[in-house]
Amino acid sequence: MQTVSKPITPAVLENIRKDFPILSRKIHAGKNGSGGKDLVYLDNGATSQKPQVVIDVLEHYYKFQNSNIHRGIHALSQEITTEYELARKTVQKHLNAAHDYEIIFTKGTTDSICLVANSFGKKYIKQGDEILVTGMEHHSNILPWQLFCEEHGAVLKVVPVNNQGELDLEACDRLLNKQTKIFALTHVSNTLGTINPVKEIIRMAHAKDIPVLLDGAQAVPHGKVDVQDLDADFYCFSAHKTFGPTGVGILYGKEKWLSVMPPYQVGGGTIKTVSFQKTIYADLPLRFEAGTPHIEGGLGMAAALDYINKIGLDQIAAYEHDLLEYATDKLSVIPGLRIIGTAKEKAAVLSFVVDGTHPMDIGTLLDQQGIAVRTGHHCTQPLMAQFGIPGTVRASFAFYNTMEEVDKLEAAMHKAVKMLL
Ligand code: ALA
Repeated sequence: MQTVSKPITPAVLENIRKDFPILSRKIHAGKNGSGGKDLVYLDNGATSQKPQVVIDVLEHYYKFQNSNIHRGIHALSQEITTEYELARKTVQKHLNAAHDYEIIFTKGTTDSICLVANSFGKKYIKQGDEILVTGMEHHSNILPWQLFCEEHGAVLKVVPVNNQGELDLEACDRLLNKQTKIFALTHVSNTLGTINPVKEIIRMAHAKDIPVLLDGAQAVPHGKVDVQDLDADFYCFSAHKTFGPTGVGILYGKEKWLSVMPPYQVGGGTIKTVSFQKTIYADLPLRFEAGTPHIEGGLGMAAALDYINKIGLDQIAAYEHDLLEYATDKLSVIPGLRIIGTAKEKAAVLSFVVDGTHPMDIGTLLDQQGIAVRTGHHCTQPLMAQFGIPGTVRASFAFYNTMEEVDKLEAAMHKAVKMLL
């Protein structure tokens, strides 16, 4: 979609916030609904909130359109099949994929990575081959590969991360070698906020004929992603982190890979013909979409992508950059607070620890002020081990957050630290 949007000024933001019903909720209100704190939602890395247009799509589907896709000749089924395939085209356009059949609907990023590990892996990765990941991966981009290595005798290699939370690109170049069959890495770190130089990394890997999978779960909600410009072989993201419904996500794969990869999960919808002697599988994308999919989820995801395109992806990225800078300055004055993840290129994620306190205690005290953050290891235990900490407090922002919310976070942090130390 063409973006013709304005910068996110306070007036624009006020209107944006009205699109998200949950943002006017009170937290810890009394039984009769009185009192309570304004919700300050800073856990967007875990899941994002949903605009009314997405909620409307889900409601409309169940009220007026509910039927199955790709199976019926009746009007409802025809109508919803057309809409579902239009949703696929919306995702194609959003990622600038060359073809709509390179867009596979999955359950989410984890499911997308499992698909590649188990399908691409079975075809191309043999005993003794290497799979490269990085030290900042979410468990979802470690475990499918680790399990594959255990089962097939391949070897998992890891690109180190420096103390700022940036990848060691020299080590990366060294580790990409003749044995490497795929490099799977995150576009944006969910814990550190680091935006990896993925275009340069892909160029590096392709110079050695190594395909690259990008985990884009924390990138797609925050700016433009162009899979052709990146030349990514595989790209994954989740709808629920991108202002859409839970339980649905995307695997983008270049046709040259998807068209030769064996089916992963099979069943209804994935076939042309079945006999007890031989099954002929469907063409792309259906050969990878077993069973009745999350139909309304696909429609809701498309509505969410349309919504953020209307706001403007560049505007979102610019505004979140301002939010991050403001929040970094504000939190840096808290006594004993140390930011984990100080890469030069960062998305609006602020992970921190405070000397002498536990992240869970801080999280609990912030919650009492209505502030939702995530605490713990953020599904990145190897990264926590590297930094020698059990976990962090993580404030992760979205375009609907305000500078005033950052002020509230700062004030609540001063209060929390005073109580704990
Ligand atoms: N991966 C999500 C997070 O970072 C759940 O919180």
